[in-house]
Amino acid sequence: MAEKSKILVIGGTGHIGKFIVEASVKLGHPTFALVRESTVSNNPEKSKIINSFNGHGVTLLYGDVHDHKGLVKAIKQVDVVISTVGAELMAEQHKIVSAIKEAGNVKRFLPSEFGGDVDLSQVVEPATDYIELKRKIRRAVEAEGIPYTFIVSNGFAQYFLASLGQLNAKVPPRDKVVILGDGNTRVILLAEEDIATYTIKAVDDQRTLNKILYMRPPANVLSFNDMVALWEKKIGKTLDKINIPEDQLLKNIQEAPSPLNFILAINHNAFVQGNFDIEVPSGVEACQLYPEVKYTTVDKYLDQFV
Ligand SMILES: NC(=O)c1ccc[n+]([C@@H]2O[C@H](COP(=O)([O-])OP(=O)(O)OC[C@H]3O[C@@H](n4cnc5c(N)ncnc54)[C@H](OP(=O)(O)O)[C@@H]3O)[C@@H](O)[C@H]2O)c1
Repeated sequence: MAEKSKILVIGGTGHIGKFIVEASVKLGHPTFALVRESTVSNNPEKSKIINSFNGHGVTLLYGDVHDHKGLVKAIKQVDVVISTVGAELMAEQHKIVSAIKEAGNVKRFLPSEFGGDVDLSQVVEPATDYIELKRKIRRAVEAEGIPYTFIVSNGFAQYFLASLGQLNAKVPPRDKVVILGDGNTRVILLAEEDIATYTIKAVDDQRTLNKILYMRPPANVLSFNDMVALWEKKIGKTLDKINIPEDQLLKNIQEAPSPLNFILAINHNAFVQGNFDIEVPSGVEACQLYPEVKYTTVDKYLDQFV
């Protein structure tokens, strides 16, 4: 059997990053995490994550995306680089591309995407710049001839499903539910663990080389109304429904302060515009490539909140 690639995760202490590191270890890859020294010493929450990395045999490499030399040194030790940096670093991902180019040894790069297909997305302001930054990274990676896989994971369950899309909620509602638009748009949501498993499975797979990997688990392509109905059945109660028509939502986005306007624009994209990739047959699809992965369905995911 071919040896498993060594994987470096940049952003491993972040929301999706920690799942990616965990999946990499679980699937037997020698796993490295680039962490900032300041995070290790100053942040108790993050220290817990880093301790768990230590417990699982992850090699910690101290560094920073802004430190080019250190980044190149870290990258030279591995075969695959996965970036899971967040919003605050999206404008700086080109620094990772430059370091990969200089290191010259990387067999696969997965830039920080983990959302909808940025080449298809028509997200409204103020989220357009953010998506444009991700698009530019795609173009830079292609132009530099760096082998890649672009991950279109669609929505994170902890972000959208755990609250059933309700702002400032951590669990699904039990009395009333706010529905953006008419609620009929189909949305794709996945548990973070499944996104991480599919991502790691893709890194050594020739079928995903220089391709977009779409994650579209058939049981998780549902309209918002379908999800509400599932939840109502579980709790044996009908919720009051408050629909916010799209033109009202667009007005709310324009009037909201930052960062609420950004969050609303992303929610508009997810629940009203929908996943533009559903009807697009291009790229490769995770569930078809890896049928052995028993993903968590939306239905099952909601059980934990009953
Ligand atoms: N589809 C969805 O529903 C959804 C939802 C949310 C996010 N996303 C996407 O997922 C991706 C990751 O987002 P996230 O929310 O998981 O990220 P996050 O939680 O904000 O984590 C960011 C990571 O980047 C690290 N980082 C920040 N500055 C750094 C620097 N200068 N050098 C090295 N590392 C640095 C952070 O390290 P520290 O721990 O040291 O701060 C942290 O590990 C993004 O592309 C985002 O757009 C998708």
